Amino acid sequence: MKYNNYETSLLKTNRLVLNKGTTNDFLKVYEYDFKRLMGLDGLIEFEKQDVNKIKSWFKGGINNYYRKLHKAHMFDWIVYLKEKAIGNVLTEEENLENNSIEVAFNFHPNYWGKGYAPEAVAAVIDYLFKVGYDNIICAYLEGDVKSKRVLGKLGFKPFNIERDSVEFDNYMVDKYITIMTKEDWLSRTTKIKRINDSL
Ligand SMILES: CC(C)(COP(=O)(O)OP(=O)(O)OC[C@H]1O[C@@H](n2cnc3c(N)ncnc32)[C@H](O)[C@@H]1OP(=O)(O)O)[C@@H](O)C(=O)NCCC(=O)NCCS
Repeated sequence: MKYNNYETSLLKTNRLVLNKGTTNDFLKVYEYDFKRLMGLDGLIEFEKQDVNKIKSWFKGGINNYYRKLHKAHMFDWIVYLKEKAIGNVLTEEENLENNSIEVAFNFHPNYWGKGYAPEAVAAVIDYLFKVGYDNIICAYLEGDVKSKRVLGKLGFKPFNIERDSVEFDNYMVDKYITIMTKEDWLSRTTKIKRINDSL
């Protein structure tokens, strides 16, 4: 990446604020087991996640968590709606071969269906292209129709399919990998801006 800016920096959208979170914010947004929320077997299950498991992810304190992310060239934004933590948008490690980074997202079910995920992810995409990435990757698992829809709204394109990639209960599911190139994003957002300007 060109600019070495690996900060989970403050981002704002029309309705949302994205920023580094606290351990409590993560406990809120991870209240339910997100694998069950994906509805991979056609059923969305509201199964609570073990609080101690989540706490263990932030062992050593939140500053330490963000220090580790920074060192690994990763990001994790808590998404706030009027100061309430409603979800998070995070990245996996970057891939320097095609200057890409993979994004994932998770929203608390109390806040689904209002377009918050696409709005927050769009701000993150903008930021990641600005700091120097050329491609953004995002994957969804077979059966996760909600994530597929979010990626469709944002304009991600099919890139690859990893067959039998992830184990879910006692069966394997395919992973659908999608891509957003910087060019596609810029032409898309410019078009949206032009439409808005002409209204
Ligand atoms: C996938 C997810 C992020 C969607 O967030 P969101 O803010 O609700 O996104 P949207 O409001 O744009 O809704 C996306 C689609 O989800 C579906 N959806 C929304 N609310 C729903 C609900 N309560 N029940 C079932 N489906 C619902 C709709 O098909 C919707 O598309 P539409 O707007 O065309 O109707 C959220 O469901 C989530 O966090 N799921 C659990 C974790 C997960 O799957 N993470 C993805 C891993 S990368």
